[in-house]
Amino acid sequence: MYSEALNMTTPQSKLAQTLAALGISSAGQVQQLFAELRVRFDAEAAHATNENSFRTFRAGWLARKSGILTLITDNWLKPASPDMKRAVGAALNELRGHVDAQIESRQASIESGSEVSASAIERVDLSLPGVIRPVGTHHLIRQVFQEIEDIFFSIGFSVAEGPEIETPYYNFEALNIPEHHPVRDDMDTFYLELPKGAPGSLLLRTHTSPVQIRTMEKRQPPVRVIAPGKVYRRDNPDATHSFMFHQIEGLAVDTDITFCDFTGTIDYFVKQFFGENVKTRFRPSYFPFTEPSVEFDASCVFCGGSGSAGSGGTCGKCKGSGWIELFGAGMVDPAVYGFVNYDPKKVSGFAFGIGIDRLAMLKYGIDDIQVFFQNDVRFLLQFP
Ligand code: FA5
Repeated sequence: MYSEALNMTTPQSKLAQTLAALGISSAGQVQQLFAELRVRFDAEAAHATNENSFRTFRAGWLARKSGILTLITDNWLKPASPDMKRAVGAALNELRGHVDAQIESRQASIESGSEVSASAIERVDLSLPGVIRPVGTHHLIRQVFQEIEDIFFSIGFSVAEGPEIETPYYNFEALNIPEHHPVRDDMDTFYLELPKGAPGSLLLRTHTSPVQIRTMEKRQPPVRVIAPGKVYRRDNPDATHSFMFHQIEGLAVDTDITFCDFTGTIDYFVKQFFGENVKTRFRPSYFPFTEPSVEFDASCVFCGGSGSAGSGGTCGKCKGSGWIELFGAGMVDPAVYGFVNYDPKKVSGFAFGIGIDRLAMLKYGIDDIQVFFQNDVRFLLQFP
């Protein structure tokens, strides 16, 4: 059907005869003849969609001995009368320009594979299974956040949020860390470069503790919140330090909260997170915003608290002590209540600040904190 239709435009037989034999004697008739040829060329070009059909198509028009352009030159142009020669020459040049340009661009698109052959389309097998595109999952840090959030939700805590760019007031002063307090050295951080004349300085928060202040400013007791988020410190990266890491702050303030409520809550959390058999203990520590302050430890999850490795020697994770340091915490220092207009005589409470990255490392046996931030899919895929 297709070749018949093409032949209706300019049959091959016409190309084998001279113009005189075809009865063509005017420039108008020549133009008509070339217009037909162009229609034929365009139709053939549209069907030359793969390498094989393109090769046949190109040879049909450009082959030196029997290509259509050669036949026109030999049979129409050369024998034409001087009058007709001019018209045929001009029309042939125009057609040759069109043919050359189209063949060149079609060749380029076939070589770049953008043309899909009709036969390839016909070969599509709809019964084959589709392409399965991998769906991303939550990063392990996010998963651990959610795990911890769920544990605290189950005992009445809700989530509070605060900005990552903080003022020194919220990050330090309101947490009872005045300007020249030595503890600021441990939390040296990134200050923002502000335009000249800006009213104060701004910094990337060094911990989630400023959310304690922001929450108490907004709410009256009872307060029971956790505040997950990113924090920043000017720490050199190594296996346990990153300049950006994650914390979850916890704060509970009410009229009758005791130290027992505090340790009981932490023990409940640790057992939910690491398992019922894990024991907790606390040691005295120091934070300017808690009094007393403690450091919580958990019995080593790798050696079950025995301090010895399965193979005999000492456990490499807890260095034989049987305990692993978890995070800092304490009863809220009454001085902090002064910054948020709570009456320290009427309220009491506790706070804690969990380093999520290190907790995740402990739970999932990860040796290097940097893997969390390298985005190596081989690592990420282990935590679907
Ligand atoms: C604090 O940041 C206190 N704000 C925690 C706190 C809150 C105490 C409320 C009392 C009451 P500390 O500087 O120890 O404390 O940091 C807490 C945790 O962050 C550490 O236990 C550790 O797990 C994690 N951490 C600290 N520095 C880094 C670091 N560079 N990279 C990764 N994790 C870190």
